[in-house]
Amino acid sequence: MTTTKSSVVNMNKVEALQTTKAVLNQSVADLSKAHSILHQIHWYMRGQGFLVYHPKMDEYMEELDGYLDELSERLITLGGAPFSTLKEFDEQSKLIEVKGDFSLAMEEHLARVIEVFQYLVSHFQTALDVTDKDGDDVTNDIYVGAKASLEKHIWMLKAELGQAPR
Ligand SMILES: [Fe+2]
Repeated sequence: MTTTKSSVVNMNKVEALQTTKAVLNQSVADLSKAHSILHQIHWYMRGQGFLVYHPKMDEYMEELDGYLDELSERLITLGGAPFSTLKEFDEQSKLIEVKGDFSLAMEEHLARVIEVFQYLVSHFQTALDVTDKDGDDVTNDIYVGAKASLEKHIWMLKAELGQAPR
């Protein structure tokens, strides 16, 4: 079989998309674990601001779930297979969970949310770089919106804690 110029191009495209698929699956694991962390914060918070922050975590979880589903289905569209078990999420995600603690101050819970969002923003930037290099504009576009939104949440959470956005 002769290797034509177009088959080489196609092979390169397939190989390139492996990187995009890998970063998409990293997002699947990270967003699943981030949801779990936000759920813990939602349950374990106590004190001033509860009536505002408790439902705010619901909003955040709903938003992350939206990205999770969109990115998972994009991965399937590209021929990939998203992680789908708790074991896989735990093993593949770089986020670290800790046991729930009712004694944490509200500020500590919010600082934890900021930390999780900062990790996700950093991961989304990696995803933007990878998808840009791969020329996958569709996946890139999903990450642009997700990153912009989480950066705005970080600004607002930091403002709530009396801190500058960066
Ligand atoms: Fe709830």
